Amino acid sequence: MTAKLRILGIETSCDETAAAVVTRLADGSGVTEADVVLSQLDEHSAYGGVVPEIAARAHVDALDTLIEEALQRAGITLAEVDAIAATSGPGLIGGLLVGLMTGKAIARATGKPLFAINHLEGHALTARLTDGVAFPYLVLLVSGGHTQLVLVKGVGDYERWGTTIDDALGEAFDKTAKLLGLPYPGGPAVERAAAIGNPKRFVFPRPLVGEARLDFSFSGLKTAVRQAAESIAPVTEQDIADICASFQHAISRTLKDRIGRGLRRFRETYPEIAEPALIVAGGVAANKQVRSTLDELCSAHRFRFVAPPHHLCTDNAVMIAWAGLERMALGLPADELTVAPRSRWPLDSEAKALLAYGKRGAKA
Ligand code: KG4
Ligand code: ZN
Repeated sequence: MTAKLRILGIETSCDETAAAVVTRLADGSGVTEADVVLSQLDEHSAYGGVVPEIAARAHVDALDTLIEEALQRAGITLAEVDAIAATSGPGLIGGLLVGLMTGKAIARATGKPLFAINHLEGHALTARLTDGVAFPYLVLLVSGGHTQLVLVKGVGDYERWGTTIDDALGEAFDKTAKLLGLPYPGGPAVERAAAIGNPKRFVFPRPLVGEARLDFSFSGLKTAVRQAAESIAPVTEQDIADICASFQHAISRTLKDRIGRGLRRFRETYPEIAEPALIVAGGVAANKQVRSTLDELCSAHRFRFVAPPHHLCTDNAVMIAWAGLERMALGLPADELTVAPRSRWPLDSEAKALLAYGKRGAKA
């Protein structure tokens, strides 16, 4: 059994500046002692998306205060942490530099080890902190920059089973919202509008449905939304609601097919596991229809559906701290202070890069 370990986590890969203090107890469970997140939504919303230079500057402005606040909330000083964990990719390079350099500086000044963490690994391992999920399991990461179905076999042992060949799911929500004149970020706006819409009025495409591969494609959906809006212009509020409801319906059907195949593949790979788990992570996990689709799918396939609390599905430093703790508990080596941030850093180094894999490189 590993002794109690405590880590300071730092996350700056996109538009959230975050710091956290997390402790792993000897029994393997985790305790979040502080979780501080500062969203830069206001800085970016006027531009309808994340502006890398603005993001990097905002991280510089906020990070040291946030780290101090996290330590204060945990009621400790830097001397009382065992290590530092900082996101070092994938993401926007300016932001990654700010967080990783800060982590390095703290590690150098205190003599504590530094763990340079893959942001996607943070998302992938969160359910072990929140729900004690055992390996192996499946994670569906659906955010503004990524749409991936990943088999998590162990810490550092991942197989990417599916990814998007064009837009990420969150990106599809954001682009749809933009072309309908709804505010940024698009996901919540589309969900709100869809609540009073008719999901059967428009039949939008469900790309790759029926194909054996587990990849996703959402750019055709966005084009179909534009064509539908143009064909009935000028659009009324009810038209927008109907388009949004039909858009969500198409997504729900697509997820049902794609993820259903993933669950079947998991069963074939691990027939001995009675009740395997599907974890959802990323901002799109907030969407009620996406959640209920996955929930129903899991019931039908006798999978356990795990959706960590919303603030741990979106970007945060708790997951980065936890990934560091998992690595530390296994005795994996800390990183050299020469480690460099990586704007691209696939979880599964064997997976072939698809057309647009990580093309935005910004959000995970
Ligand atoms: O994980 P996240 O907060 O940030 C990163 O991408 O890293 O995800 C943000 C994405 C945006 O594309 C946003 O539109 C989408 O998640 N999103 C939603 C909802 N809330 C956020 N999409 C659909 N429905 C929602 N309720
Ligand atoms: Zn993320």
